[in-house]
Amino acid sequence: MSEFTTTQTGTPVASDEHSLTAGANGATALHDRYLVEKLAQFARERTPERVVHAKGGGAFGTFEVTGDVSAYTRAAVFQPGASSETLQRFSSVAGEQGSPDTWRDVRGFSVKFYTTEGNYDIVGNNTPVFFIRDGIKFPDFIHSQKRLPGSGLRDADMQWDFWSLSPESAHQVTYLMGDRGLPRSWREMPGFGSHTYQWINAAGERFWVKYHFTSNQGNIEIDAAEAEIIAGADADHYRRDLYEAIAAGNFPSWDLHVQIMPYDDAKSYRFNPFDLTKVWPHADYPLIKVGTHTLNRNPQNFFAEIEQAAFSPANTVPGIDISPDKMLMARVFSYPDAQRYRVGTNYNQIPVNAPHAAPVHNYSQDGAQRHGFNSPSTPVYAPNSFGGPAASVEAAGMGTWESDGELVRAAATLHSEDSDFGQAGTLYREVFDDAAKARFVDTLTGQGSSITIDEIRERFFQYWTNVDAELGATLRVTVAAVLAA
Ligand code: HEM
Repeated sequence: MSEFTTTQTGTPVASDEHSLTAGANGATALHDRYLVEKLAQFARERTPERVVHAKGGGAFGTFEVTGDVSAYTRAAVFQPGASSETLQRFSSVAGEQGSPDTWRDVRGFSVKFYTTEGNYDIVGNNTPVFFIRDGIKFPDFIHSQKRLPGSGLRDADMQWDFWSLSPESAHQVTYLMGDRGLPRSWREMPGFGSHTYQWINAAGERFWVKYHFTSNQGNIEIDAAEAEIIAGADADHYRRDLYEAIAAGNFPSWDLHVQIMPYDDAKSYRFNPFDLTKVWPHADYPLIKVGTHTLNRNPQNFFAEIEQAAFSPANTVPGIDISPDKMLMARVFSYPDAQRYRVGTNYNQIPVNAPHAAPVHNYSQDGAQRHGFNSPSTPVYAPNSFGGPAASVEAAGMGTWESDGELVRAAATLHSEDSDFGQAGTLYREVFDDAAKARFVDTLTGQGSSITIDEIRERFFQYWTNVDAELGATLRVTVAAVLAA
């Protein structure tokens, strides 16, 4: 006999087709508790979507260390020969859960390493920089990229108003409007930790580090026309591509490299190394290979394992810490805060978020939906005289940096070559080839001509003139031609 349907508490039910009614044509009985349970559960199926990066997909994998970076970090996950289970989630930033994958956007690139010292998360993007450099601007930035409050529509005026009033965005907007804004698939794009992080070795020496994941599938992009067709034909194009590749045994992989900056270089480096709008040229700090990350297992349940996954830059492990990057410090607060709201107070007890290779010992307790607990003999406070877990500075292997300034609200001090437009101009002139430049001008012409407010359009031209004078002059002509047509 096949299994019979039960209530959530395991008792058999009489029908999945007929409610309990007073006669075949009569009123429905409120005491049909199975009907009530079924409808009530259904009405609660959705949790809030992520406030950003709502549309995504992911898979489990393995990270294998093939290099030797033990001189720079004591983190077990990066020691020679180590192998860790991982979870990766890819995403778009601005679109909602049902939005088409191939809308132009930055793509999220989050990796959770289930290490023997606890979970370590790198929550990055497919670009090495970001639009802003202080977390206090993040809600405004996101509001400008999402929807107008009245019409519920996305709006070029507010996007370009924000960007052109925030010149630090130029480098990232150059990536976004270039080919990087339209990857062919998640498998065929790179990933970056973007921020500068801190590594600490076994001797307690400190280093600054940037992460680069290089796709072994190559970096392949599509053009705007193709992206638009795919957006209409298959909104889930990236999600499907990843799922089908893994199901077919075609496992995508990325090599993880790092750039390492000696601790003391930070003070005098030509760019502020903690400014998220800047890269460190490879000529200054070359890539060092750490290992390979391979995705080899699809989720069994999308909601339980991908939708409820909680990645956070706050999840660090001994030998890895954050840096004095104002964006990163804001993120360390914001992600767990968002996840307590989105998934629930005890979100870290859900199997996908709980550590898989390390125990949890602490004095937190209770809260909604708690299902893990200590034995009754474990003390519920620290310090205690009963042998409960005790904190350890040595085990924590935390990072530090000097800070003796007065409390102020101010931009970080400039380093010799810091400018909002310099690296954006280099990207446009020296990295884009002629065909990429032509596509870039095309995209920006479309953007500029969809701005409806003259003052904002003028600032758009000035912004791109600051990136590259010739580019700005070209856009004045191409946008004018579209508007005149
Ligand atoms: C201060 C600036 C930022 C704030 C306040 C912020 C906040 C958030 C929040 C609240 C979420 C949703 C988390 C959740 O519900 O699970 C999120 C998701 C995400 N953010 Fe940020 N973010 C910031 C900057 C960045 C930057 C600079 C990057 C990349 C370098 C980034 C990459 C991501 C990614 C990839 C996700 C999706 C994580 C996943 O796959 O679940 N964010 N962000």
